[in-house]
Amino acid sequence: MVEHIYPIFDKMLTRADKEDLLGQHGVMIWFTGLSGSGKSTIAIALERELHKRGILCRILDGDNIRSGINNNLGFTEADRVENIRRIAEVSKLFVDTGIVTLAAFISPNNDIREMAARIIGQDDFVEVYVSTPIEECERRDVKGLYAKARRGEIKNFTGVSAPFEAPAHPALTLDTSMLSVEESVGKLLELVLPKIQKK
Ligand code: ADX
Repeated sequence: MVEHIYPIFDKMLTRADKEDLLGQHGVMIWFTGLSGSGKSTIAIALERELHKRGILCRILDGDNIRSGINNNLGFTEADRVENIRRIAEVSKLFVDTGIVTLAAFISPNNDIREMAARIIGQDDFVEVYVSTPIEECERRDVKGLYAKARRGEIKNFTGVSAPFEAPAHPALTLDTSMLSVEESVGKLLELVLPKIQKK
């Protein structure tokens, strides 16, 4: 019966095919931490170091996600769940293409991060907690948002008027009030290179 024939040439190439082409394994590096903790800065610096080593990466962060695919979402608990769900689904596509994918989002609680890990696949998921204390994030206040949140001009602001739950068992914890960007990247390379490089 013709309709039950699925010729082999119609099948999509697999993740393994893509990983062979690229000569690397796809991995998800999931940064979690407060606003201003240094997630994006570290992700950008790590991407540069991996790129230099011939590794193809993709960063997902607020700039390319909350202004695009998620521009209809705010900061209620439900919107944050939907934000992270979509990010995880998109990330999965990249990881399944063999790409080292770096996500820099607050992702403020264990339920949200567990959902992301479940969607992407626990084996591919490396959780990195950027643990910079709120006092330091607030002192930096790069975007002036902590000041606004303290004045009550932003509702549900993580760390001020919305909760942040630290991860229980991150693969790595980086406090950027103690470590330079280079030191953080050094620790990350040690952790992730063995997972990325093909044997
Ligand atoms: S998450 O909680 O849904 O993971 P996400 O990382 O996408 O948050 O966005 C956080 C960024 O949005 C912050 O770094 C800050 O610039 C901005 N922002 C605006 N309003 C808020 C808010 N109420 N709480 C936290 N961050 C906010």
